[in-house]
Amino acid sequence: MSGERDMTGSDESVATNAMWGGRFADGPSAIMREINASIPFDKALWRQDIAASKAHVAMLGAAGIVAPEDAAAISAGLDAVAAEYEADGVPEDWDREDIHMTTEARLAELIGPVAGRLHTARSRNDQVATDFRLWVRDAFAQMDEGLAALQRALVTRAGEHAGSIMPGFTHLQTAQPVSLGHHLMAYYEMFRRDRARIADAAARMNECPLGSAALAGTGFPIDREATAQALGFNRPTANSLDAVSDRDFALDFLWSCSATALHLSRLAEELILWASQPFGFIRLPDSLSTGSSIMPQKKNPDAAELVRGHSGRVIGALTSLMITMKGLPLAYSKDMQDDKPPVFEAASLMALSIAAMTGMIGGATFNTARMRAAAELGYATATDLADWLVRQAGIPFREAHHITGAAVKLAESRGIALDQLPLEDLKAIDARIDESVYAALSVDASVAARASYGGTAPDQVRMQVAAARMALGMEEE
Ligand code: ARG
Repeated sequence: MSGERDMTGSDESVATNAMWGGRFADGPSAIMREINASIPFDKALWRQDIAASKAHVAMLGAAGIVAPEDAAAISAGLDAVAAEYEADGVPEDWDREDIHMTTEARLAELIGPVAGRLHTARSRNDQVATDFRLWVRDAFAQMDEGLAALQRALVTRAGEHAGSIMPGFTHLQTAQPVSLGHHLMAYYEMFRRDRARIADAAARMNECPLGSAALAGTGFPIDREATAQALGFNRPTANSLDAVSDRDFALDFLWSCSATALHLSRLAEELILWASQPFGFIRLPDSLSTGSSIMPQKKNPDAAELVRGHSGRVIGALTSLMITMKGLPLAYSKDMQDDKPPVFEAASLMALSIAAMTGMIGGATFNTARMRAAAELGYATATDLADWLVRQAGIPFREAHHITGAAVKLAESRGIALDQLPLEDLKAIDARIDESVYAALSVDASVAARASYGGTAPDQVRMQVAAARMALGMEEE
């Protein structure tokens, strides 16, 4: 066997192609097939694709663009294709490129050439824009439902803990004592804004692109109001060029996901801190924690860490689609096929993250004794001493702040709490201080005093909780 023949004429080098490599034995056309195929991911749109096609063909029949019996045959055929998808899944044949061509090709196999009439007055450009909107509309609704459940969990726990005291932080330094219920209700507010954002975006996106055709509209006498209505849209889109090239609804969805993911990540971060031994504020449910394979004492807050971690992927999805879209001229460009993976990924990460957070909030055990003890340390009631000096002794706040600073310094030097300083020592700092100051220095008094609207006083928190329960349609406590 000559060396030359070995190198150039072996069976293997005939079967593969030196330029394209073994994976692309068929050369450029194989690469094109693979890079072009969106069926591996857009098969997730099959229900929307069938629904939009049925609405379209019903309209074509009613408008006399397709004979009524042909429209009926196509509609029945689409039901048959849907039944196959439901039973066996969507076949992934790269030659059929995407969900639209896969469905149409299968329809033709089932009902014959009449299937070809379905694509009258339509293009894949308005088809995919319509399908994707329908999908995103459902995804908005699902995310909203998940967030409502999370809010119910927060409100329930906040109601239980309106009177539980914990340290409130700024700069992650003990600042003033607050109600645990108040802290939990802060997240209720964030998710309330998230749900308002979803409602706003979902209302704005509810216009139907179908009938915009490839980019310019169509010469057939279609009825866009009819298809829009059949698919539950408020109206048809007003500009065909915009309609086939607009992905703002997907960006709005990803921004909604990102804002919620950011809030979830902040809450996750707090749960992780609170579950750590030095804090010891909570125990997360075993069902949402894991052990360590090497350190037997450990119980790790993995679910919370993954919620925090997933937020990075979700925000990445938003960035990805913004960058895909930013340089595209009107109207459709194939780049836009890449709109779906980030949206699908973000939607499933969000569903999981919201469910995990709901489970952690609902199942957490709060160590309220430990929280109270932490609030009692750290001079959290120093502001209350200053406020007492203003109110009881008529001292200007700036001066009161200064006097309080001296008291904190003294207590700190002795390693005791403010309310453990003997009266004579307080009097030595400022003679206007009397016995009644001690009532203001307890964490309970401090929290109860902050009864301004939206403040942390337990009665205020109970009012917030009652209002939230009403807004969520929960029963009164
Ligand atoms: N699979 C394509 C997408 O997801 C469908 C639209 C194709 N249109 C076209 N003109 N090639 O965007």
